[in-house]
Amino acid sequence: MQDINEIAYFSEENSASTVIDRMKDAPNERLKEVMTSVILHLHAVIKETEPTMAEWEQAIGFLTATGQICDDKRQEWILLSDVLGISMLVDEINNRRATGATENTVLGPFHVQGVPHREMGDSISDDGKGEPMFVHGRVLDTNGDPVDGAMIDAWQASHDGFYDNQQPDVQPEHNLRGIFTTGPDGKYWYKAIKPAYYGIPNDGPVGQMLTGLGRSDVRPAHLHYIIGKEGYDLVTTHIFDGDDANLSTDPVFGVRASLINKFNHVDDPQRAKDLGMPNPFWEVETDFILNPAKGS
Ligand code: BEZ
Ligand code: FE
Repeated sequence: MQDINEIAYFSEENSASTVIDRMKDAPNERLKEVMTSVILHLHAVIKETEPTMAEWEQAIGFLTATGQICDDKRQEWILLSDVLGISMLVDEINNRRATGATENTVLGPFHVQGVPHREMGDSISDDGKGEPMFVHGRVLDTNGDPVDGAMIDAWQASHDGFYDNQQPDVQPEHNLRGIFTTGPDGKYWYKAIKPAYYGIPNDGPVGQMLTGLGRSDVRPAHLHYIIGKEGYDLVTTHIFDGDDANLSTDPVFGVRASLINKFNHVDDPQRAKDLGMPNPFWEVETDFILNPAKGS
């Protein structure tokens, strides 16, 4: 029989090391590495906060509800990762870029596949609702040279802050979405409408948590993009409205200074005519700078 004095049974003092010791023969080294860190930090949290049994049951209830509200359209776990700043941190670690290259930010849950390819200059507003906006700029490499054949996947919320897939009975499918391809000059331009700020889904456990923490659930107005070209890092990013009052309280920490831009109000009949826009209109100009892909 083994000497019971030699066995490290679980105690408050040695809790983390006892659990970690059980993983010493793990066949998966990476799993062992990650779980060792998870256990160390989780046990430290519990020792620091000393939850009551009722609080621990509440925590289990929160995690259970987070899973139970998920379906093929709703992903509360990603939302939780977003509002805890984890999505942005993982993205940042995986996309450390050369200075000057366009920074990434959150993808969000409203991107869809199968969006129509539109001609440069087309409108992405299929219902014409909202204040007209002209969006343009260039796709460049880090030397400032134009990128030919870059794919720009653009999507945005409506004038009252909803994506088409949130309002299938109100907006036409693929409203305010479009895929464009740059030519040799790297330029892109299209017509849209000025998007509104909007609240992230707040009718589930994540919304309850934000309320309990006194945090905003309102994302500042923004335009979404994925920009891709072989030989360059894929860029998942936004252009933020620099005049939005919610920039410093974005619930998903997606705002970066480099992504804030001025949405200019233009009242110039001749310029409107030249661009094929009604007067007055909004205008935003942004260049996207692509970072060379690793190994190219
Ligand atoms: C979005 O911008 O579409 C978004 C991002 C993260 C969470 C919810 C929405
Ligand atoms: Fe969004």
